[in-house]
Amino acid sequence: MADRSRVAVLISGRGSNMAALIYASRAEDCPYEVVLVTGDKPDAHGLEIAKAEGIQVEPLDARALGAAYWDRLQQRLDETGIDLIALAGFMRIIPADFVARWAGRIVNIHPSLLPKYKGLHTQQQALDNGDTVSGATVHLVTPGLDSGEILGQVEVAILPSDTAETLEERVLIAEHQLYPDTVIRFLNRTRDFDWITGKVSELALKLPETSFQTSHGSPGWKVGSKSGSKFFAIMWNRHHGEENIGVLLKCSGQDEMAQLIEAEPEQYFRPAYYGPSDWIGIKLDRPRVDWDHVAGWLQRSWQAMAPPRLTKLMRAADEF
Ligand code: GAR
Repeated sequence: MADRSRVAVLISGRGSNMAALIYASRAEDCPYEVVLVTGDKPDAHGLEIAKAEGIQVEPLDARALGAAYWDRLQQRLDETGIDLIALAGFMRIIPADFVARWAGRIVNIHPSLLPKYKGLHTQQQALDNGDTVSGATVHLVTPGLDSGEILGQVEVAILPSDTAETLEERVLIAEHQLYPDTVIRFLNRTRDFDWITGKVSELALKLPETSFQTSHGSPGWKVGSKSGSKFFAIMWNRHHGEENIGVLLKCSGQDEMAQLIEAEPEQYFRPAYYGPSDWIGIKLDRPRVDWDHVAGWLQRSWQAMAPPRLTKLMRAADEF
């Protein structure tokens, strides 16, 4: 599979969820690969497993490093070119600025049916409360403890004979299924035409006087009043044998198009039929899409197609 997402797994101990993520990544159609395993404890057993599996391991000692720990970790993640961080039994509170830097690209597994039982001793709490089901949750990490968007959950029945330990063991089996499965679904949505179209739409409709309309069956966005509106963005869904999903936007002309495609062929393409009229394609079914960059392009294309009364207003606002 082309261009898999590069995942770093952070652990503090045993690393059985890390192992589950690694083994699942061996399926041919898995959209990610685990390229780095690190954490906060240099003697975590999981590091040994990762090493034996031929994965790059970075043993970091958070205690010894003190305040420098988070910078070291960030540096290592940058050097390795990480798309997604998966926390797997990583028992350290993450500072808000680190979380902010990875917003939307850091996931965690937690052994309870969140929002129930955040923090530690989750199975004991479930037993103490007389619950009949426990389970596990995979969620996005946000600055609040165990409170980001829930991406996947699995229930595990509680037996009358269960102790916290026996319940933990069974929940762990469920975790090993849930974690890779949820990460795969989460990553696949970034390759899903409808999801990508939704993202583009959100950005396109923020621009003044825009509306949604299809163009030859493809979702598109127009600028201007009903009678004189013009397309400034059109979705591209693997048309005419090309591989990618992308958005078509107006560039300044054939020279710019050729230059951009030559300089960054992983990002730009020349769409069949549309290319001659200066529509350039930006590939969007990639793990590393920079949505701010896409927003900038949408604005540029909007400006190229908007009637003068609107661009004048925009320019005046810019100068102001
Ligand atoms: C797992 O049960 C995981 O859900 C939990 O630690 C265990 C790690 O096991 N995580 C948390 O409690 C995070 N708040 P593992 O090292 O074998 O994957």
